[in-house]
Amino acid sequence: MALAQLLAPALANKLFAIDLQQRAVQATKKRLAAFLTPQDAEAVAVLHQCHSYFPAHLHPSTVKLIVYNLGYLPGGDKQVTTQADTTLTSLHAAVPLITPGGAISIVCYPGHSAGKQELLALTAWMEQLDNNVWSYCHHQWPSRPYSPQWLFLQRYTVGR
Ligand SMILES: C[S@@+](CC[C@H](N)C(=O)[O-])C[C@H]1O[C@@H](n2cnc3c(N)ncnc32)[C@H](O)[C@@H]1O
Repeated sequence: MALAQLLAPALANKLFAIDLQQRAVQATKKRLAAFLTPQDAEAVAVLHQCHSYFPAHLHPSTVKLIVYNLGYLPGGDKQVTTQADTTLTSLHAAVPLITPGGAISIVCYPGHSAGKQELLALTAWMEQLDNNVWSYCHHQWPSRPYSPQWLFLQRYTVGR
């Protein structure tokens, strides 16, 4: 929502929201309608699909920010949660899209089993990224391993 408000009114082809569940898609549309003008709310592409792929018309090195809020929908079916394999597929697709200076933000929830596996898989994958191209920040509360953790990748503006 904050991103939509920041970018409005230039939202068409600028902001995409993706979720596998119709319920989350509807909730997102409702929120957009509540906070934006009808025209702006309509301009956000809310996509009912897996995040393992992105809209085909997005060109490499053109996307400024991709935000992942992983896990399951609060108050929803906990079985419908993001999984390490499809999230990694998504990240493989995300990396070439990011423009120099752009970033990928990921919130992981290791308080449940799939979330814990996902966090381990993602941090292992990040370790092997080229550190001449990407900076990597892992934010966690050291004594609270089950609290949400934030992973942030930023592509350097120039190669180092
Ligand atoms: C923590 S909720 C985030 C909901 C909402 N996007 C937000 O940020 O408030 C995680 C969401 O991931 C969705 N999800 C699970 N597997 C997914 C997948 N493979 N592709 C896209 N979304 C998925 C769930 O349906 C759930 O709504």
